[in-house]
Amino acid sequence: GFTRKFSSSAALNSVKTVTVVGGGLMGSGIAQVAAQAGQNVTIVDIKPELLDHAQKSIQNNLQRVAKKVHKDDPIKMEQFVKESISRIKITTNVEEAANVDLIVEAIVEKLEPKQELFNKLDKISPEHTIFATNTSSISVNAIGSGIKRKDRFGGLHFFNPVPVMRLLEVIKTESMSEETYKIMMEWGKSVGKTCITCKDTPGFVVNRLLGPYSAEALRLYERGDASKEDIDIGMKLGAGYPMGPFELADYTGLDTNKYVLEVLHKLTNNPVFRPIPLLDKMVSEGKLGVKTGEGFYKYKKYKGEARL
Ligand code: 3HC
Repeated sequence: GFTRKFSSSAALNSVKTVTVVGGGLMGSGIAQVAAQAGQNVTIVDIKPELLDHAQKSIQNNLQRVAKKVHKDDPIKMEQFVKESISRIKITTNVEEAANVDLIVEAIVEKLEPKQELFNKLDKISPEHTIFATNTSSISVNAIGSGIKRKDRFGGLHFFNPVPVMRLLEVIKTESMSEETYKIMMEWGKSVGKTCITCKDTPGFVVNRLLGPYSAEALRLYERGDASKEDIDIGMKLGAGYPMGPFELADYTGLDTNKYVLEVLHKLTNNPVFRPIPLLDKMVSEGKLGVKTGEGFYKYKKYKGEARL
């Protein structure tokens, strides 16, 4: 059955219940892969409309996964979606969701709200609860600086789209215990991901390398050395990337791109991450990519929602 495909029984002995704080794109993806693996999940968000949206998009994405896993069996397909959805609860009250084995934070990418959340959770969660942040660019240590359980805290960095991307970066801080590290690695495997380990260093592995790549692509285009279309084709056909750098920037969002470059510039002082006037201009014009209907390319809007 699918549970064997998506989970390892060893990890389920440690993590059976998961809370995901933040019902956006990343949070709902994380909730989905945990529910698919047979775990009970609660999604917490302060905005009820975001929780409704998360439930709907999880339902849609589960259908896509079901089609792949049970392609010739419509009954099993329906069962898979129904059972996975039934394991997901939603709430606007974090206090209702603090008593679990693992809490993954995927809220706004800002230091103070993340610190406040973990400080609060540290007081109300049981001893054994492990905390993780899905931050992509903020220091994991800084996020957990106010909590007591520093040995049961670290980073779990997922990639967009979470149900499809096979990687999970497990960020191992100096104060994390070996047991916590092991549980995080096992849990990652149980939700279908290949885990790699990285210290709490700016951008971790993937964003540290994607940053200069994306910045240099933008500068190449800004200088007029090549068209964005040709750069995208070049990296797809010449380097095997599934998307070119401009398609990827539109997909992840130009605002996110700009923010990650700014943080990496501040933390590393490496001039490769310096500001890019073209990117700043597009962000100030609201051309953020797929989500606003226009970035480097234009996108059609279906049912009020922009799609690739
Ligand atoms: N949920 C479930 N399934 C999904 C999905 C989702 N959200 N999105 C796509 N899929 C499935 C589709 O159903 C399809 O399945 P099939 O092959 O069985 O038909 C498969 O994934 C491929 O999707 P599409 O045919 O729609 O489109 P593509 O073949 O172009 O794939 C893509 C889309 C998976 C997004 C691919 O283009 C890709 O891998 N792009 C690169 C993404 C990337 O680099 N992400 C990392 C960004 S960096 C990051 O996230 C870090 C953060 O900190 C900012």
